[in-house]
Amino acid sequence: MALAMMAGISATAAGSGLSSLSSKAAESTPAANKPLKVLAIGNSFSVDAVEQNLWEIAAADGVELIIGNMYIGGCPLEKHWNNASSDKPAYKYRKIVAGQKTEYPETSLDTALSDEQWDVVTFQQNSPNSGFYETFSPYLEKLIEYVKLRTPKGVRLMFHQTWAYEKNAIHYAFPRYEKNQNKMFKAIVEASNQACTRYGLGLIPVGTAIQCARVSELRNNVTRDGYHLNPVGRYIAACTWYEALTGRSVIGNSYDAPHVEPWMKQLAQEAAHSSVSQPGKAIKVGPEPNHTNRDEANVPRYTLPDPLVMEDGTPVRTREEWFSARRPELMKMYTELMYGKAPEVKGDLHFKLVESSEDALGGKAVRKQVKLYLSKEERYRLNLLIYLPKDASGPVPVFMGVNFTGNWGVCDDPAIVMPNEKEQKRYSVLENLDRGASASRWPLEQILSAGYGVVTFYRGDVDPDFHDGFHNGITPMIYKKGQDWPEPDQWGAISAWAWALSRTLDYCGLDPDIDEKKVAVIGHSRLGKAALWAGATDERFAVVISNCSGAGGADLFRRQFGESVQDLNRHFPHWFCANFHNYNGRDSELPFDQHELLACIAPRPLYIASADADSWADPKGEFLAAREASKVYEFLGVPGLAVSEWPAVELPSIEGNVAYHLREGKHDITLYDWQNYILFADKYLK
Ligand code: GCU
Repeated sequence: MALAMMAGISATAAGSGLSSLSSKAAESTPAANKPLKVLAIGNSFSVDAVEQNLWEIAAADGVELIIGNMYIGGCPLEKHWNNASSDKPAYKYRKIVAGQKTEYPETSLDTALSDEQWDVVTFQQNSPNSGFYETFSPYLEKLIEYVKLRTPKGVRLMFHQTWAYEKNAIHYAFPRYEKNQNKMFKAIVEASNQACTRYGLGLIPVGTAIQCARVSELRNNVTRDGYHLNPVGRYIAACTWYEALTGRSVIGNSYDAPHVEPWMKQLAQEAAHSSVSQPGKAIKVGPEPNHTNRDEANVPRYTLPDPLVMEDGTPVRTREEWFSARRPELMKMYTELMYGKAPEVKGDLHFKLVESSEDALGGKAVRKQVKLYLSKEERYRLNLLIYLPKDASGPVPVFMGVNFTGNWGVCDDPAIVMPNEKEQKRYSVLENLDRGASASRWPLEQILSAGYGVVTFYRGDVDPDFHDGFHNGITPMIYKKGQDWPEPDQWGAISAWAWALSRTLDYCGLDPDIDEKKVAVIGHSRLGKAALWAGATDERFAVVISNCSGAGGADLFRRQFGESVQDLNRHFPHWFCANFHNYNGRDSELPFDQHELLACIAPRPLYIASADADSWADPKGEFLAAREASKVYEFLGVPGLAVSEWPAVELPSIEGNVAYHLREGKHDITLYDWQNYILFADKYLK
């Protein structure tokens, strides 16, 4: 082995051969008894594709691979050629033999090419240029000649078609593709086809396979930062390589890649298979999407678990029993089976006032912008945006909620801090950088003139809100040394948002201008789910408001109307803990239903609101959950929901400690909603 003989290089795994394969398996290899030797000349995108899963997929199919990857981060064809022509030892050469990876630093292309009798050598362009064929030339041609001179006759040369960035990805090169994923995809297909035709290269259509996954149930859940692949994305890439290299179908391959759920595995294999047979076509693949029931007639008969009966069947008789036994029992189930455990609070919270003004919003408000550090590590932090009524005579009550579009989207106040380039990158994706993009969802004028402040932070500070592999935002806070994925009962994004709301409440206790005993936690949609979970886990929240929170929020799962457990977990694999995924397709088997989550907030004031055109969130299911939770409120001696019949006509109903309204219109949070929340809050926080 050439490399093993080189001075100064340890090559423990190199050359360890075929020992792991049974002879039966070896018989079924394309070229019996001979490993297929593949060398990629690539960058981080070939790391994603070949450095994990590929060897294992092949082995599971009885095919022995020797895989080499010549890696330089971001390396374009031009640089590969310059390295080749100057014989520069510029690469990290990673070599996988018998499933063991060894890295040889400072290796030249010439050295790697002569290290093995390669059967296949692959080329690729870096992502900023992958859709621009003119950037391939003359480097690809020169590299091909260079490789041919150093490889056995009959070597197969192939082109690794890379993939488009995620929608709204923060990548410096995305503007070249007009920040348009589809445009980038088409450009990559076009350029890679041209290269293959021109130079007679075989195609490895990973970009197509990734696009198939995106138009299917995996949606935007294939990257970890907007462009590098996450575990399932990597598995798709490896499946595609396997089919393209061997001509063998990957469908039904038995290897289980880490963090790839069975439905994802099926989808990945089909995406790979489809891309190899129809390169360039983004075709829907994978398991059938769930049928969404939107017909009341199809709601099954169901019995809701009784919040006032313990799991062992013992009825809850006293207030004491509720608080000391039943409520903790429910909270434990919700924590371990659905939302996931949050980290312990270690008292490392500290903050920095970044900006403030006594004269904001045309003189009506005090504005503060605060960096709230959640641990000693600087990267775990929230950017709080705070508006308080200007003429307050003491600490004020506030509405606190997470926002969807960034603090700068809450209001067109030019003083709101915009994320600099580094911060934008940290978010991975950003819907927009428009000031005031969601101002209609934060009617500051009305809120402030009613005597309330607003405290908010961007959801992306906590989690980028796609399945990034739990490594951005604050989610890694939970990890012990060496851990890189939450345990099955550890938090997902919703629990993380809720926990961040609690830490923001800690901050309120340190701010003399805010009355931390008078905080209403509020959220719309996914952030309404988070508000409910925050309200349940943190009894310091005085009022809890859920706006159109739907499935995983206020809606009853057992009605099987609108979004289901499976929809939630497929489209948002990062929202709930892994244990919750065991309930896909088993909505009625959950040991609890969402009226019990609402009951855990009792007796504190709770407002549930729906919109009549929001059937995905199941308004009736939200109403019924509020009604059922009211039994616990009444048990605890406070009035629950004042109306009991659906459709509730006399709404909004804000008389009891449980309030409800059904607004006309679509899934949104509007001024009408806020007006009612303010009236409700006035009863408790004034
Ligand atoms: C999707 C999702 C809902 C969620 C909503 C939102 O529609 O299915 O569960 O509430 O997004 O957060 O906007």
